[in-house]
Amino acid sequence: MLDKTFLKRYIVGFHERDFSGIIPRELRVEAIPNRATVIIGPRRAGKTYYLLSLVDKENPERYLYVDFEHPIFHPMTPTDFLAVLDAYHELYPKIKHPIVMLDEVQAVPDWERIVRYLLDGGYTVYITGSSSKLLSREVATHLRGRSLTYTLLPLSFREFLRFKRVDYRGRDFYRNYTQISRLLEEYLHYGAYPEVALSSEGVKDNILKDYLDVLIKKDVLERHRIKNIHLLNELLYFSLHSYSKYVSFDSLYRLFKGRLKVTKRTIANYFSYLEEAFALFLVRKYERSPKARIVAPRKLYLIDTGLSIFGSKDLGRDMENVVFLELLRRTSGNPAMKVTYWKSSQGHEVDFVISEHGRVNELIQVSVKTIDEKTRRRELLALLHASEKLGCEKLTLITLDEEGIEDISLYGMKGRVKMVPLVKWLLGLSTGFEE
Ligand SMILES: Nc1ncnc2c1ncn2[C@@H]1O[C@H](COP(=O)(O)OP(=O)(O)OP(=O)(O)O)[C@@H](O)[C@H]1O
Ligand SMILES: [Mg+2]
Repeated sequence: MLDKTFLKRYIVGFHERDFSGIIPRELRVEAIPNRATVIIGPRRAGKTYYLLSLVDKENPERYLYVDFEHPIFHPMTPTDFLAVLDAYHELYPKIKHPIVMLDEVQAVPDWERIVRYLLDGGYTVYITGSSSKLLSREVATHLRGRSLTYTLLPLSFREFLRFKRVDYRGRDFYRNYTQISRLLEEYLHYGAYPEVALSSEGVKDNILKDYLDVLIKKDVLERHRIKNIHLLNELLYFSLHSYSKYVSFDSLYRLFKGRLKVTKRTIANYFSYLEEAFALFLVRKYERSPKARIVAPRKLYLIDTGLSIFGSKDLGRDMENVVFLELLRRTSGNPAMKVTYWKSSQGHEVDFVISEHGRVNELIQVSVKTIDEKTRRRELLALLHASEKLGCEKLTLITLDEEGIEDISLYGMKGRVKMVPLVKWLLGLSTGFEE
């Protein structure tokens, strides 16, 4: 039985908390009656802080926040939770339905019973927890149509600048241009975990190492009881060296089979565990035929470019990875939107194809610089080929510094390409060349 005095001290303690250090994030969630709002995402992305940021600072007593990893809640059963609700109602008899926030919910066995009980009673419920046990698939099955899930990724560049207290809107962009350019370098190099952004240069490596270790140990090894640790390490090593590149399970299999105990199935499984744990994403090729889509190689992107300091760094690949993560943020509110890549049989490649219900909206190419005439031609030619093949006229080339609109004509193909510097694209700033 939970001690009521402890519970009341805990509940009131939350209401006295200093919320001033919490920096607002961009993610917008909408609480819907009868459905729990679930925040998922990689470890350390800021899920707990995000919940706290939703608290109305003028009326914190309207919230019942429970961190199930707090020692006073151990051990706990769904029935014990009634004592927590009782304690709250005794403290605040006038508030019939507090907004309930359940953090680290995976620590309670059968936690979904608590959530269903609260929803049936008319409470608004927010849930988050550690990614290892609170993955979207599981939440969906446990709550059977009674949840809406949102994903919180590490910081966008706009949020990153907010964390650094640097303004970029209007004239501030030009006023703070030198600082913003330097911060873009930091963003590409050390990535976008909130704590890494806030920490001093000397400790960033250590924090990232710790994040990577916990992610692999807790969310992949322990969760799936993996025996072939050596293979997992090899795949991780490969990923940290080959992000923003193609990955083919077949060629990895051929690479490892002489040296390690391995099957193609195991390689595919381990990659799916890494994806499930939000360590990486495997992007599919844009193909109309489902069969061709399945057999095509994928492109690999990391959850955070900071992690690649333990692999091999490359500015062009960091840029492409950062663009991918931003596209994920921009499309995540719309399940009909997909981000894929394109490659023709002659080898022309386009980094990103943005489509909605299968119709292509935009083609995006990312390249560090296109001063070199050969590179420039290659990137533009691929865009024109894809434009013709996929019936899309919105063509974008993101580089470090090129800006403008160019009408291109090559081999009888024509197209209008918008050139956007990465910094402006990430910040969503107008280039002055809008149609
Ligand atoms: N909005 C924010 N404002 C200020 N600092 C933040 C914010 N979000 C995250 N942080 C920093 O990042 C750290 C990790 O954030 P948080 O604990 O919210 O992550 P989490 O996703 O809940 O992690 P876990 O999966 O381990 O529970 C915090 O301790 C804090 O230092
Ligand atoms: Mg947390």
